[in-house]
Amino acid sequence: MQSTFEGPERKREIKDDWTFADADTRRMTHGLHTYPARMIPQVTEKLITKFAKSESDDLCIDPFCGSGTVLVEAKLKGIKSVGVDANPLAVLISKVKTTPIKKEVLEREWSSLRQKIEGDISKEKPVEVPTIKNLEYWFKPQAINGLAIIKHHINKIENKDVQDFFKVCFSVTVRKVSNIRSGEFKLYRLPPDKLKLHDPKPLLAFSEVTNNNIQRMDKFYKAVDKSVKSIVVKGDTRKLLELDPRNLYENCATLLITSPPYGDSHTTVAYGQFSRYSSAWLDFDEEEVWKVDRIALGGKLFDEVEDLESPALTHTLHMIADADEYRARETYAFFKDIDTCFAQIAKVMKKRKSTICFVLGNRTVKRMVVPADQIMIELGHKHGFKYYDTYHREIPNKTMPLQNAPENEIALKGETISKENIVVWKY
Ligand SMILES: C[S@@+](CC[C@H](N)C(=O)[O-])C[C@H]1O[C@@H](n2cnc3c(N)ncnc32)[C@H](O)[C@@H]1O
Repeated sequence: MQSTFEGPERKREIKDDWTFADADTRRMTHGLHTYPARMIPQVTEKLITKFAKSESDDLCIDPFCGSGTVLVEAKLKGIKSVGVDANPLAVLISKVKTTPIKKEVLEREWSSLRQKIEGDISKEKPVEVPTIKNLEYWFKPQAINGLAIIKHHINKIENKDVQDFFKVCFSVTVRKVSNIRSGEFKLYRLPPDKLKLHDPKPLLAFSEVTNNNIQRMDKFYKAVDKSVKSIVVKGDTRKLLELDPRNLYENCATLLITSPPYGDSHTTVAYGQFSRYSSAWLDFDEEEVWKVDRIALGGKLFDEVEDLESPALTHTLHMIADADEYRARETYAFFKDIDTCFAQIAKVMKKRKSTICFVLGNRTVKRMVVPADQIMIELGHKHGFKYYDTYHREIPNKTMPLQNAPENEIALKGETISKENIVVWKY
């Protein structure tokens, strides 16, 4: 399918650099909390600069907002935004990253919080420990005790926005003091030799995170216009319109920027797994967190295979099915869900006035490349999205596994996502 917007501008864009190899991707509140497959702020900023119309009229939506990169950048540009995500931890992180709080307010609360925590730790005061499955397997006793005391005092903070800020710092601390291997998004326990030496100090870890995060929030607070709204909604994007009872976005979004999940959370990125222990410590509904990976796009197979009007998809499914019928069904389920999301997105965007940008990686299944960019261009066509252009970028530091072996055989390190395509449509 050809771009409908040819000409000198398009030629210039081909030379554009989208890699941002040396950029600070954790600037301001972007660095408050890690998240799998986080988008880099510089890509979002560039897309907003290119495609936002007039700031006051724009509404930017990210239907898979994760940790809120798009929402933060929109706010920094003075643009209203709405983010949707199925993962309750992602919703909390996005809300905190987009809610500016004055440094003095946080410092005052932090000073009193620290005193109370130190007091309880020195008195070895017994405190209620939450019921969490396999708690002792993933946390040493001193980690459990310290975390329980910190959490107890965070829960008593009255101002909800301030409390949520400290919850995000707490969530980072949970991960740091746990027995979970760092540098992985899936749950792997430290190997026995490292576990023996592991000596977690919850208050020290929490203090480091909090001091750092207060500085980051201060920079954000000084840079944003506080009157610009950012709203974060928890829910399933396949039902985007049902999540809009207050008519926040139906027919009125002018810009959509998103990076959808890659599909197949067993082999690529498991958002639920990544969030599980932080969420359990934060008392999120356990069932809701366990089901994040199940309700993620492609998480449920379909009995029937419908023609989704994408020749690239049909061809890819045949190729995969020749090697593995089940993996072909999984791949179909992901694109069927994307198709459902596209139908919803079409109802959310303002007609003839909007731009849709999807940041995608082409993963491989059974060592066959799935051309997600081409498939999505074809699916989008059916929903009235007019293909505009694709920008390409190398991924120097995206937080996701670059390689893994889906068949669990070392020799089959098959799935490499080291490049991204940014597909743009006009609508
Ligand atoms: C690639 S991540 C987004 C990362 C985000 N751009 C950032 O910078 O943090 C994809 C997100 O899609 C969410 N997700 C998966 N399936 C979903 C669904 N059916 N509805 C809403 N969100 C979903 C996951 O929880 C995950 O946060």
